[in-house]
Amino acid sequence: MSTTLAFDVYGTLIDTHGVVSVLREMIGDEAEGFSQSWRDKQLEYSFRRGLMRDYKSFAVCTANALDYTCALYQADISQEQKQALLAAYRTLPAFEEVEGALTELSGNHCRLFAFSNGTAEAVERLLVNAGIRKYFEGIVSVDEIQSFKPDPAVYRHFLQRTGASDSDAWLVSSNPFDVIGAINSGMRAAWVKRSTIAIFDPWGIEPTLIVESLTELYAGIGA
Ligand code: LAC
Repeated sequence: MSTTLAFDVYGTLIDTHGVVSVLREMIGDEAEGFSQSWRDKQLEYSFRRGLMRDYKSFAVCTANALDYTCALYQADISQEQKQALLAAYRTLPAFEEVEGALTELSGNHCRLFAFSNGTAEAVERLLVNAGIRKYFEGIVSVDEIQSFKPDPAVYRHFLQRTGASDSDAWLVSSNPFDVIGAINSGMRAAWVKRSTIAIFDPWGIEPTLIVESLTELYAGIGA
């Protein structure tokens, strides 16, 4: 039985802080904090839209969060600059080790899928741009059922779309809320602890596996 891997995209394969260099030219030293606030607000908006059953695409959550963060920082960012930031967001880079790790996994009978809050179209463009689309059998987007992670329905949707059973399927994510969501739905889940100071939510639910980078994944899952 082959192992099916559901890769979270933003923050796991793709570096969402890749916009920092563009931001730094606009707002200087506040770029790092701004980028983190933007990301946090984007996720908060996706959670709230999921709970309110008022689905709008992840790109809308991203754009609304950018407007919020500009107001929070009282940043002098023009409409053109906002468009430039959103364009940068659509072509973010992959983390450095990703391609090597995907090569190893796909060469060892693992089925690889991108599994994201982003629409299939947005994820397709990101993966092509980052040069890693060829490693994936497919893209599964929450957009197909108009909800967001960590709604249990989106993890069930992943299993249904890929024909995998929960005991053969792993979520791979740097986002603790995503790892907890997958385990809560019966999947196994690897937490990619990309930073030494990253904290896992103390909910009494532990990741099946913790890795510091995707390079450790193949050995860890024992596929
Ligand atoms: C995603 C967000 C959660 O790609 O990072 O699904």
